[in-house]
Formats: sequence, C-alpha cells, structure tokens
Amino acid sequence: MLLNLRDYETAAREKLDPVHADFIAGGARDEITLRENEAAFARLRLLPRVLRDTTRRPPARTLFGHRGGMPVLLSPTAFHKLADPEGERATARAAAAAGVIMIVSMAATVSVGDIAAAAPGAPRWFQLYPQPEPGITEALVARATAAGCSALVVTVDSPVRGAGERNRRNGFHDLPPGLRCENMVDLRAGEHGRLRQIVMSPELTWEHIDRLREATSLPVLLKGVLHPDDAREAVRRGVDGLLLSNHGGRQLDTVPATIDLLPGIADAVAGRIPVLLDGGVRRGTDVVKALALGASAVGIGRPVLWALAEGGEQGVRRMLELLREEIDDALALCGVTGPDDLTPAVLFRPRERS
Ligand code: FNR
Repeated sequence: MLLNLRDYETAAREKLDPVHADFIAGGARDEITLRENEAAFARLRLLPRVLRDTTRRPPARTLFGHRGGMPVLLSPTAFHKLADPEGERATARAAAAAGVIMIVSMAATVSVGDIAAAAPGAPRWFQLYPQPEPGITEALVARATAAGCSALVVTVDSPVRGAGERNRRNGFHDLPPGLRCENMVDLRAGEHGRLRQIVMSPELTWEHIDRLREATSLPVLLKGVLHPDDAREAVRRGVDGLLLSNHGGRQLDTVPATIDLLPGIADAVAGRIPVLLDGGVRRGTDVVKALALGASAVGIGRPVLWALAEGGEQGVRRMLELLREEIDDALALCGVTGPDDLTPAVLFRPRERS
C-alpha cells in the first residue's frame, strides 16, 4: 500500500533494474551523510500549540515570483528515463498539476525544451554545472532561458564526481544505449547530433559565478553551499538564493545533515536571500521542521524517482498529493495559523542533563 513517500521506494524496486535502483538510492563512500539526512530529521521533536483555530493554514511562500501550491520543489535529479519511458516529461506534468517548481537537471534524459513543451506554462528552473568551456555554459543558459526557466540553480558541490561505491560494484558508469543527456546535444550552432560530456570541474571559483550572473538576467541560486562563511560570501556577491544541500549524500561523505546545518546558514544569511533545503525530506513533519528553522521551501530528490518508477506521471502526482496532505495535517496539528508561527518555538529541545 502506498501510504507515504517511503512506500514508493519499496514499490519502485519491484519494477526497476536493481542496478538502477542502487544508482538512485545510493550515496558516496560509506553513505554516512545519506543516512544522517533522514536520521537528523527523525531526531528533532515538534511541540504543538493548541486551541488556536487552524482552519486557515499558511499558504506557501512566494519564491522568485512563484506562489506554489505547497512549499516543496522537485530537486534536480538526473536520468528520469531510467525510471519511466516518458522520463522528465512525466515528472514535469505531475509537478505542473501539483503547482510545484521542477528544477530540471542538466543531466536530464529529455531536453529542457521538450520538458517545457510537455508542461507549457508550468514553473521550472534549470540546474547547471558550469562547464570549463565558457561557450558551453552560455549555450546551456540560452537553452534553459529559451525553454522558459525562470531561475538558474548552480551546483557548486561537485569539483569532482562523488564516489558511489554501489555503482562501481555494479559496473554502472553510463546510461544504457538509447538514452543520453539531451541538454548536452548540439550546443553549438551548426552541430548535428554532437553530444558533449558533462564535466565536473575543479577549476571553478567565485569569479565563474560572478561571470554567470553578468551573463544572465535570471536569478542565480547556489546549490551545495554548506559553510556559513561561503553563505556570507554568496550574499556579498549578490547571489539570489541558496539551496542548502549535500547532494543527498552523494558528494562528500560525512558532511552533516542539511537540517542540522540550517540554523547556522540561516544565521549567516540573516534573511537577506531565501534559503531552500533538500536532503532526507520524507514527511510533512520534515517540511514543517525545515520551515521552522528558516527554510523558505524544501526540495525532494529520490521520492520523485521512486514515484516515477512506480507509476509514471500518476505516481508522482499521487506522491506529491500525499506530501501535500501530510504538510497540511502537520501544520494543523502544530497549531500553526500563519507563517509567523513557523519559528524554532515549534521545536522541542530536551533540557540538558546536569
Ligand atoms: C541527484 N542530485 C542531483 N543534483 C544536481 O544538482 N544535479 C543532478 O543532476 C543530480 N542528480 C541526482 C540524481 C539522483 C539519482 C539523486 C538521488 C540525486 C541531488 C538532488 O538534487 C538532491 O540534492 C538530493 O536528491 C536531495 O536528497 P533526497 O531528497 O534524495 O534525500
């Protein structure tokens, strides 16, 4: 029975090639961060208020001009066609139906233009790994802009590719024949069928972010800033937002859970730009905890791929509806009547034993 987000993993595993299921589920090295993301949410306790008339629960906040159906985004994940033949088209339609922003991965198996055509008018952002060849980055930004993406999410935690030992053990290094990263095809004028590899570049610096900001009028968010000093630097340089993320535990293993880092990042940013968070969000209560600690919205990664594998577009729609119900229910049960109630006061801290 599909009662919650975790149930989708079990259902998806019955349909997926186990090698692909491992690719989705896995993290880097010992997978300590992968486990920690969910464990840290589970360690936090909520302390509700009562008798406050919660018939009007606070609506989702407006993010770069978009008022979502709920404070949830689809974090960028690669290779949706491993989960469903329609791939990112199906995901995009489900996101549109739920009124949530889909962050299209640069490593999508459908081009961002074709994703836009599948769900016209729906809000979408584009995730970018800046490429060492500036012309390629510019071409990708142009492609995303033409497809109606309204923000760029630059992933900065990947100077090298994370080491997923499950993939190494399974010999999973490449997409199966017939699938490719469609955003990387024909990036230069006059090319026909040329596919470029996505390069993870250790050369990237803040200057690349400055240059990207100069080259686009779209808001630029950084995904993968974990240190408060880097968060301050991002604000100083005029970055428009942060997606606090440890890549779902797929890059540097043993970094802390994002929810444990959130208070420090929120302090450093001090409300000057929105901070979003992903990593281990599986329950409506997780969403409430993240909002209470200062996130403007949360992203989900793996649950989208599991739901896509389980039931295609309908699967993702049902999964998002379950999450929406859980958030609504958690807000009511916490006694939240407006955004001002979503503060750390809704979290319980046990007294230190003396
Ligand atoms: C990812 N993630 C990711 N991030 C990114 O910036 N670009 C990408 O192409 C991908 N691809 C990708 C593939 C798969 C299979 C997974 C599981 C993750 C990371 C993703 O955006 C997000 O940070 C995490 O997935 C969030 O954690 P949860 O919700 O999966 O726990």
